[in-house]
Formats: sequence, C-alpha cells, structure tokens
Amino acid sequence: MLSSEKIKAEIERRRSFAIIAHPDAGKTTLTEKLLLYGGAIQLAGHVRARRDGKTTRSDWMTIEKERGISISTAALQFEYNNCVFNLLDTPGHQDFSEDTYRTLLAADCAVMLLDGARGVEPQTIKLFHVCRERNIPVVTFINKMDRPARDPFELLDEVEKVLAITAVPILWPMGSGQDFKGVYDILAKQVYSFERVQGGAFKAPFHVKGLDDPELKSMMYTEDYDRFMEGLDLVREALPPFEESAFLSCQITPVFFGSAVTNFGIELFLNHFMAMAPRPGPVRLADGKSLSPAEAGFAAFVFKLQANMNQKHRDRVAFVRILSGAFERGMNANLARLQKSVRLNSPVAFFGQERTTIDEAFAGDIIGLINPGTYKLGDILSSGPDVGLPPFPIFAPEMFARIIPLDTGKLKAFRKGLTELAEEGVVQVFSMADGSSVIGAVGQLQFEVFSRRLEEEYGAPNRIETLAYECSRWTREEDLQHFSSYDLLARDAEGRPIVFFKSQYRLNNLIKEKPNLALFEHPPISMKST
Ligand code: G4P
Repeated sequence: MLSSEKIKAEIERRRSFAIIAHPDAGKTTLTEKLLLYGGAIQLAGHVRARRDGKTTRSDWMTIEKERGISISTAALQFEYNNCVFNLLDTPGHQDFSEDTYRTLLAADCAVMLLDGARGVEPQTIKLFHVCRERNIPVVTFINKMDRPARDPFELLDEVEKVLAITAVPILWPMGSGQDFKGVYDILAKQVYSFERVQGGAFKAPFHVKGLDDPELKSMMYTEDYDRFMEGLDLVREALPPFEESAFLSCQITPVFFGSAVTNFGIELFLNHFMAMAPRPGPVRLADGKSLSPAEAGFAAFVFKLQANMNQKHRDRVAFVRILSGAFERGMNANLARLQKSVRLNSPVAFFGQERTTIDEAFAGDIIGLINPGTYKLGDILSSGPDVGLPPFPIFAPEMFARIIPLDTGKLKAFRKGLTELAEEGVVQVFSMADGSSVIGAVGQLQFEVFSRRLEEEYGAPNRIETLAYECSRWTREEDLQHFSSYDLLARDAEGRPIVFFKSQYRLNNLIKEKPNLALFEHPPISMKST
C-alpha cells in the first residue's frame, strides 16, 4: 500500500504533455532526442522511429510505414533530473483532429514545434486552437536553427498575430544556418555556444559564457554579433518578461530556439520545461467541483482504444490517463458506465513489440489496460465514489461512406472489425432506416485507414463508397418529423438520432427557417445513454 506522502511526491514529479506540430517540423526527431536525454523508461504505444529503423519503431501498422505518418496516438514515459515526463504522441495529419483532440484531453501542457524557416503552418494553427479551447498552456520550440531560419522577431510576431498569444522568448538564437552559434538564455543570463560535431554525439557539447566574454565577439562575424546584441537589447526593452501565472493561464507562450537534429538546445529546453510545465492539476468535474490529484483516490479515464497493437497477441488496449491518486497492479476500480467493479490486473507499457507490466502509476501517467471489450472511449474508473467528468467529445462527421464487404465468406470478421474499429473511434458507425450501415469521419484519411485495417487486421476485404453528404447534426426524437427527404436520418452506435445534410448551405438554410429545431454538433448530455 502506497503512503499518501509517496503518492504526493510522485505526482509532483509528473509532467504530462503533447507535442503539436505541422508535419515535417521535426516532431519525431524532437521526441527521439527527448528520449535520448531522458532515457526512455516506458513507452505506451509507439513512436515512429527514424527511417534508419531504431528500436522504438513498432511495425504493427503497415500503412504508417508506407505513408510515413503517425496515425495512432500513444504515450511514452521518460525520466529526466528526477522528473517523470509523459509524452503523448499526437498524430501530425490534419485528418485526425478527433483523435488528436482526445489525446490532448490527456495532456496538461503542449509543446508547439515550429520549423524556423516556415513558422506557423496550417496544422499548427488547428492544433493550437484545440489547446486554447482546452486551456492547455503552450510552450513554443522553434526548431531547425542549424538551417537558414527566418528572423526571430518575425517568427515571434507571426506567433502573436496568427495565434493571438504573446510570445516571450526564454532562449534567443545567435544566428541561424551555417552561422548558428548557440543561444542566449534570457533567464539564466548566459550564453550557450554551440559546437558542431560530426556523427551526432549523444549530448550536444556546449560552452557557457557571459555576455561580456570577449570570446563571444570572436565567434561571430561582426555584423552577426552586432545584430545579436541589438536584438537582445530590443528583447529586454520591448518584450514582456516570463511570468509563470501568465503562462499557466495561457496568456503567453515561452519561446525556445534549437536544433533537434543536432541535439542542440534540447537539454536547455528540458531544464526550463521541467520547471515551468504544470504538474497534474485539479480536474474540473461536470458539477463544477474539482478533483485534487494528490488528495483524491484513484480516478482515471479512457482516452484511447487501440486494437491489434501486436500482431501476435491480437488484443485490444485501452489507454487510460490517471487523473488522481495512484494505481497499483491488481487493484479494483469501479467502471462508472456499467456501475461494475473491474480488476485492473494487466496494465502494460509498450516499447515497440516489447511489453512490460506496470506495478504502480500516479496521476499524470498513462497506462494501457488490456481491453477484452470492457472499456469504451470516455469511460471513467475510480477507486472511490463516481467521478463525474464533463462529456467526452464526439464530433459531428463531415464525410460519409458505405463500406461494402467484398468477400461474403468473411462477413463475421467484417462485422467484428467494424464494431471494434468504431469503438476505437477510427470512424463512427451509423445505422440507416433500411438496416444498412454508414460510416462517418471528419477526414478522408480516416476512411482509408479504416478500410486498410479492416482488410489487414481482420482479413475482410472491402470497398468504400463515399456518399454525397457534407455535414451532420444530432437532433431530438421529437424533431425528426421536421426534416425533408433531402436530409438523411440515421442513428449512431448508441441509438441517438442524427441527420446528414447534402451541404452546409442546406444546413444553414434549415437553421434560418426553423430556428427552434434542435441541432447539436456533439451528442448532448441528456441524450447520452448509460
Ligand atoms: P515530423 O515527425 O514532424 O514529421 O518530422 P521529422 O522529425 O520526421 O523531421 C522531418 C525532417 O526534418 C527530417 O528530415 C528530419 O531529419 C529533419 N529535421 C528535424 N529536426 C531538424 C533540425 O533541427 N535541423 C535540421 N536541419 N533538420 C531537422 P528528412 O530528410 O525528411 O529525413 P531524415 O532522412 O533526415 O530522417
């Protein structure tokens, strides 16, 4: 039995975060470098390793390999300077906003990774807005400074203008590209000069100097040195200082500069990030009360389900974020939806194909529970009384398709795949009045992934036929009579009525014509089945 002091101390050490980035900004590279510095201790799910095939690569999803994108979300854990970091891997593809949204529900903070030459890109904006909606503090890391980058002031200005958040530099770059010489740490008032080494040394060597060190001047061309010193004057005079409360309340984003591929700036970043990233905080409950991580008993929620993690095991895993208290292997918890006690006796962590069993975990951590079909997305587990969380987000799909089995001998596998992948949230499945099924998603890639996984993991070849509907809204039973034959009525997996519309224009007109009609973007709580 863990003591309350031990639980408190362990929670205090936790930092749970996600990296948000436009594809190619260097998320995989940064993740790997964080692991190198931290020494990965646990990896739930997987991280897409570099193309040279390091051990972190998990090969259970061939589509990821082919496309070179990260489709599934996962969490990995590493320890650095006595802090335990839980890094949630958000998919970088824009089609996966639902999955990404769910992952960000499990994070306390986000690192927004920008490419120094590209600045704020479309996917960065979308992901940033999800963080803002969820009040997640965002730290900015401007990467690839070893390549010619845009002027740092211009980059800060873009962050402020496009994302409407004040950018406060913590590190200030000394040049970029071939002339990238290091960074000045504004808080520590020290220069860290960058030494390029051949062959990617494990830790980037650097030298610490004061601003008045004469060597500094000799390291740079005169005009670069002058620009750097003038820039620093401007930073100190014109930009606001870092304030923790402004960061935690999402008014400012602290900004770091570095180069993940050469490991430069990672250690400095980790040191600052460790100090500023929020610890697991109080959780707001549906009734307005809050749950304190260190004071309440064990409570957790399922934010991700994943089938067929391992081709050999063919099992399903429910990823759980612990909100409060501690988990101990073999403990019992109440599964709120079923009002049933479940024994949590097979918690696992993954490292590629390797599995390890977890004996204990604390608020902030993510654990994988083998899921023989017991858990659903949004499920709440608690050792004490029920924990009423706000409703788990489900989005109205914007794309619809029929999925046709191509091998009638594989119908059983087809149905099983349909059910399990829908439970995972890969797509949503709706039943139509004629008894057929339609799948819905927010992006085309979700359909492709669904179709491929159905074939590869369940052996059920299939064909996708897209339907000409553009948006959807949940509604009330009593309002069903008000829709016309243009609109398609369906029921979601919980039996709730939903309507598909041919176009956004049609939906807008309907809203204008019948303002009292109930149209919901998310299934409303009152309609939630138990
Ligand atoms: P992603 O997960 O965000 O999509 O990006 P990823 O880490 O795969 O990086 C995309 C490309 O950018 C990779 O190059 C990677 O090496 C490069 N990169 C990442 N960080 C840095 C950096 O700090 N500086 C420089 N110069 N490049 C960086 P690639 O050519 O696509 O692949 P690879 O053959 O190098 O692995």
